[in-house]
Amino acid sequence: MRNFASLAAGVALVAMAAGSAKAAEEVEVLHWWTAGGEAAALNVLKENLAKEGVSWKDMPVAGGSGVQAMTALRARVTSGDPPTAVQMLGFDIRDWAEQGVVGNLDDLAEKQGWGKVIPEALQAFSKYDGHWIAAPVNVHSTNWLWLNKAAFDKAGGKEPANIDELIALLDKFKEQGLTPLAHGGQPWQDGTLWESVVLSTGGMDFYKKAVIDLDPAALSGDQMKKVFDTMSKLRTYFDPNFSGRDWNLSTALVIEGKAGAQQMGDWSKGEWLRANKKPGTDFVCMRFPGTQGNVLFNADQFVMFDVGDAKRDAQMKLASAVEDPAFQIAFNTVKGSVPARTDVPGDQFDDCGKKGIKDVADAAKAGTLVGSLAHGYAQPGAIKEAVFDVITQHLNGQIDTATALKRLPEAVAAAK
Ligand code: GAL
Repeated sequence: MRNFASLAAGVALVAMAAGSAKAAEEVEVLHWWTAGGEAAALNVLKENLAKEGVSWKDMPVAGGSGVQAMTALRARVTSGDPPTAVQMLGFDIRDWAEQGVVGNLDDLAEKQGWGKVIPEALQAFSKYDGHWIAAPVNVHSTNWLWLNKAAFDKAGGKEPANIDELIALLDKFKEQGLTPLAHGGQPWQDGTLWESVVLSTGGMDFYKKAVIDLDPAALSGDQMKKVFDTMSKLRTYFDPNFSGRDWNLSTALVIEGKAGAQQMGDWSKGEWLRANKKPGTDFVCMRFPGTQGNVLFNADQFVMFDVGDAKRDAQMKLASAVEDPAFQIAFNTVKGSVPARTDVPGDQFDDCGKKGIKDVADAAKAGTLVGSLAHGYAQPGAIKEAVFDVITQHLNGQIDTATALKRLPEAVAAAK
């Protein structure tokens, strides 16, 4: 790990430096925030940095959950030319830290007291070997359900409390002539749906046993059978064009009233807001039925690559801008996430945001704030991919439930 000692002091020095020195500062940022709501949120950061005299070289790599972005990153690092800063999740952060190619943010973190305001569950990934190596932007969570309010009201307006009630609601959407459940068939989206179903089916204890502990009995037993049976049932509520569709296009179907619901993380709210839709009026956000009290989190973090002394002050300015409380509000109200800092007031957030903030705080206290598998916070990449393979093959009808139950523990063991 590159030691960035004295960088916090460097930030102050550069702030005093001449205008010409400021103009020379630039950060190249690799990210996958290319959907409307995501890009709008990212603009807040670009603008804040511009005010600091740091210009932004954009390296967007489209593809939900960053699968393609991480491939692009590997190519850049392999060719000896890493970007200045990279949006990253969970175990990927750890992997790059292990390679010894990322910068140490200790001085800045110490100066700004990150340790006191970033939840422990995030710090476990923002720090490596006791050193800060990532600046967390937000806390997203995956166990959400998004409903078109008009369709929902027509269907009786009662929030489903469990999977059976969800199925009943989807049947009502079907009667209205809608696509009941807007799903995009990509492995990470299949995984995002699956982990909500796991949580709903067996509660947090089961999620921990199966997904965190990778207990072979939990991965192949009766509860997991129920999970796969539910996945098959939910599949019957997708539209014929679901395969390969990007998540934001599925959100658009619900926004336009062509579909009733979408299961997706709270970045989906960014799309609703971007379309000028209001929570409680145009859409309903609720925890995926049967998962209230539990939060499967993912958190976007920025990792600074060691690209030499000339870029360090700009890197520290980026990290500092990310942890600025006003930025945490301005960004996360647009993005759909909740602040990574627990000391940021929630009064400027809409009702979904307020619920998100409360849920995360309550779950952190109760020990039910647990990493999302689909977004890299539960297992390293190889295991995540192995689980995705089984989920996706099953969801697409290439293997039946009995085969999925046999393959899941085998695939996990082989990936370990
Ligand atoms: C998540 C990421 C979010 C959002 C989403 C869809 O992994 O944390 O910020 O971008 O993917 O791309």
